[in-house]
Amino acid sequence: MDLYEYQAKHLFGAHGVPVTPGEVCTTADAAHEAARKIGSAVVVKAQVKTGGRGKAGGVKLADNPDDAQAKAGAILGMDIKGHTVHKVLITAASDIAEEYYVSFLLDRANRTFLAMASVEGGMDIEEVAATKPEALAKIRVDALEGCTEAKAREIADAANFPEAVKDQVVAILQQLWDVLVKEDATLVEVNPLILDPDGTVLALDGKVTLDENANYRHASHADFEDRENTDPIELRAKEFDLNYVKLSGEVGIIGNGAGLVMSTLDVVAYAGEEFGGMKPANFLDIGGGASAEIMANGLDIVLTDPEVKSCFVNVFGGITACDAVANGILQALEMLEAKGVELTKPIVARIDGNNAVEGRKILTDANHPLIELVETMDDAARRVAQLAAGK
Ligand SMILES: Nc1ncnc2c1ncn2[C@@H]1O[C@H](COP(=O)(O)OP(=O)(O)OP(=O)(O)O)[C@@H](O)[C@H]1O
Ligand SMILES: [Mg+2]
Repeated sequence: MDLYEYQAKHLFGAHGVPVTPGEVCTTADAAHEAARKIGSAVVVKAQVKTGGRGKAGGVKLADNPDDAQAKAGAILGMDIKGHTVHKVLITAASDIAEEYYVSFLLDRANRTFLAMASVEGGMDIEEVAATKPEALAKIRVDALEGCTEAKAREIADAANFPEAVKDQVVAILQQLWDVLVKEDATLVEVNPLILDPDGTVLALDGKVTLDENANYRHASHADFEDRENTDPIELRAKEFDLNYVKLSGEVGIIGNGAGLVMSTLDVVAYAGEEFGGMKPANFLDIGGGASAEIMANGLDIVLTDPEVKSCFVNVFGGITACDAVANGILQALEMLEAKGVELTKPIVARIDGNNAVEGRKILTDANHPLIELVETMDDAARRVAQLAAGK
């Protein structure tokens, strides 16, 4: 999960990284009040989860509260690379003597963590990286050893930080490493890290990506969830604890196992071409040991999606045998009816694997008006696409 700048800075503050005080606002009036409380010149900063806000006009200096109100009014509602600005951060303006860049990230390809640092930070760091790679130091950080003081010094030396700021930078690097490890982040980036005219080093911007697999260790991270910008069906699926991703098509997909679901998306998209471009409406993996209740939750999510015209239940019996899955599908439909969910959309089921013959017999004998049993995955994909197209 990517965080907004104001959320990233909240974590920075909690781990000792020096940041300027600020307040996040959703209205121009609130921006006026926040600037008044800060009592000095402020910067009004668009809070969107994309880079290049400054260049897009989403970061503006304001001399007084009235100015902050006007600038916030202009920035709120702006579109930055497809992201609408709903919030602005009002933060004290700093005088900037120098702009630096530092980051830690999980370098999957090299199976390590990587620190990057440059004394040529600011808005053009991407260009520095492309045209002057020698100005961007890259140092591996061993996961077990971590960013010790010696490692932080190695990074600061490699990036040629001036002696006068080196101790501050070394401390900040260790604090940022703490953010990465203790908050279970996969990216922590500061651009710019600035030197002010008094000789103090401060983080003026912050970017953090949290590893959602570690959410169970961080109850407080739930507060970072961006509910207003999340698809409402995805939010409901999350409440059911389902692995669901909304897509743009018409064919609802339910399968067990991420690999099977991924290939189901492919075969449905391929088969759908013949029927005017029918496409998968979602990714939904109900997992290996899916019970009737999990199947019911999955069907509930998929069948109540207004975009969905037909649904493909593609199950490979493994840990859970196909007869249990077949009973699960039937019970799930009963549970939904009992809940008052109106069932009208056709369901194509393909079940194979452990006890497939028994499972198919259960569905055939049940003779449910909405369920069609199709033997192979390709034929089922073709049929469900055809049904979605209303043919
Ligand atoms: N508090 C501040 N005081 C003075 N100047 C600031 C302040 N915050 C940002 N700036 C200036 O605005 C520039 C852009 O700000 P920032 O880095 O936060 O956004 P950005 O780099 O454009 O966005 P992103 O990092 O998401 O690409 C900074 O490089 C800095 O020069
Ligand atoms: Mg920046």
